[in-house]
Amino acid sequence: MPQSKSKKQTFQLLRGMKDILPDEERYWVFMRDRVRDFARRYGFRSIETPILEQSNLYLRSSGLSSDIVTKEMYVFSDPGNERVALRPEFTPGIARAYIEHGMLNQSQPVKVYSFGPIFRHDRPQAGRFRQHTQFNFEVIGDQSPILDAQLITMGYQFYAQLNLPVQVDINSIGCSACRPRYLKKLTTFLTENKKVLGPDDQERLKKNPLRVLDTKDANVEELLMQAPQTVDHLCDECKDHFVLVLEYLDEMDVKYNLNGRIVRGLDYYTKTTWEIIESGKTGSQDSLGGGGRYDELLHQLGARAKTPAVGFACGVERAITKLRANDIAVPNMPKPDVYIAQLGKEAKKKALKLFQQLNAEGYYIAEAFSKDGLKAQLEQADKLGVKYALIIGQQEIVDNTVLIRDMENGNQETVDWSKIVTEVAKHLEKGVNSKRLERPLPLQAK
Ligand code: HAM
Repeated sequence: MPQSKSKKQTFQLLRGMKDILPDEERYWVFMRDRVRDFARRYGFRSIETPILEQSNLYLRSSGLSSDIVTKEMYVFSDPGNERVALRPEFTPGIARAYIEHGMLNQSQPVKVYSFGPIFRHDRPQAGRFRQHTQFNFEVIGDQSPILDAQLITMGYQFYAQLNLPVQVDINSIGCSACRPRYLKKLTTFLTENKKVLGPDDQERLKKNPLRVLDTKDANVEELLMQAPQTVDHLCDECKDHFVLVLEYLDEMDVKYNLNGRIVRGLDYYTKTTWEIIESGKTGSQDSLGGGGRYDELLHQLGARAKTPAVGFACGVERAITKLRANDIAVPNMPKPDVYIAQLGKEAKKKALKLFQQLNAEGYYIAEAFSKDGLKAQLEQADKLGVKYALIIGQQEIVDNTVLIRDMENGNQETVDWSKIVTEVAKHLEKGVNSKRLERPLPLQAK
C-alpha cells in the first residue's frame, strides 16, 4: 500500500500558557523554598486542594459578578456529567476543605498556605497568563484586625527581603451591614453620570456597582474622583477594624496608600482589601499580590457558625519576572560533585556500577554513558564545573582501578576499585565539594 503523504500535525502551546524550561528551574526552586520557609516562620501549614472542583463552588464564592466567574473560568462537564471547573483561585477550595474536614474543631485560627497552578481564561498579555502559579496564605476562624495587618506585613516583607521594593494599596469595603447603604449612594452617583460609562462599566453598574471602581477606562477614572468613598460609609465595627489595621501597619513600618478603588474583583470580600504593587506603580493591572478579609464566605458556603477569615495570594510568574528584571541573586542549581567518564564496553558496565555506588552515598554525579570519546566527556565535565572526573578506561579495567582527575590542575591519581568510594569522599572533603544534598545552595547573581 502506498504511504499517504498527509502532512504531519504539529502541536503548539495553548495561547496564554507557558512552558517552564530547565534554565528557569532555579527561580522556581527558589520561590518554592522561600515560600515554604516564610510559611513556617509565620506558623502556616500546607494545604493542597484539588485543581478540579465543582464549578458551583466558585459561582457561590468568587461570585456571579466577578470576571473570573463570568468570563475566565474553565468550566466543563466531566465524563460523569458533573459540572466542574479548573480552580481560578485558591480561596473557595480552601474554605470548602475547612468546612468539609471540620477544621472548626481545631485550635483557631487555622493558618494554611498553598503553592500551585491557577487557571483563568484571561486575555493573554505581559504578566497575564491563562495558567499561572500563586502562593496563597489564609487565616481562617478569627476576626482580629491584627491578622489582616500581619498578612499584609508578610506580603510586604516577602518582597522587601528579595530587595524588591513594593507598596501596599489598601481600602475597606465594609460588610453586609454597611455596604448596602454605600452601594445605594454609589449607584445613584453612577446612574446620574451613566453617559460617561462604557458598555463594560454599564454592565457592572447593573450587576455589581462596586466593580465600576475597578475600571480601566480613563474617563470613568476621572469621574470616580468625585464618587462617594467606601471608607466614608463604614459602620462603627468596620471603621474601628480598619483604623486598627492601619495602626498596626504603622507600627510595622509598612508603607501603604489609602486607595478607595481597591475593591478587588471577587465578591466575597468584606472590610479590608489590599494589593501589593511594585513601588511607584499605580493600579492593580499588574499587581504582585492581593488579598482581603472574607468574614461571610464560610457561612455562605455552609459553615455552621460565622467563621471570619482573611488571606492573600501572589503571582509567582510576576515575582520571577521582577527578580530577573532587577538582577536579584538566586541560588544556582547545585553542580555535580564528580563526573564519571568511561571508555570501552567493559568500562561502561563498571561506570554504571560506580554511579550507583556513589549515588547511594548521596553524591550528585554527572555522566554521559552514551558518549564514547573520552575527550568529549572531559570537555563536558569541564563545562559543568565539576572538580573531579573519575575515569575508567581500558587500562583501568585490566588493573581493576579508577583514575581520579583533578579538573582544575589536570593531576591524576590511580585508585584501586575497592577503595574508590572512600577516596572520592576524602577528595571531596578536602575540596569545596562535600555531600551536596546537605549543603546550602551558593548564591550567584543572574
Ligand atoms: P487575585 O488578586 O485574583 O487574588 O490574584 C492574586 C495574584 O495572582 C495577583 O495579584 C497576581 O499577582 C496573580 N495573578 C492573577 N491573575 C493572573 C494572571 N492571569 N497571570 C499571572 N498572574 C496572575 C486571588 O486570587 C485571591 N484568591 C487572593 C486571596 C486569598 N484573597 C483572600 N485570600
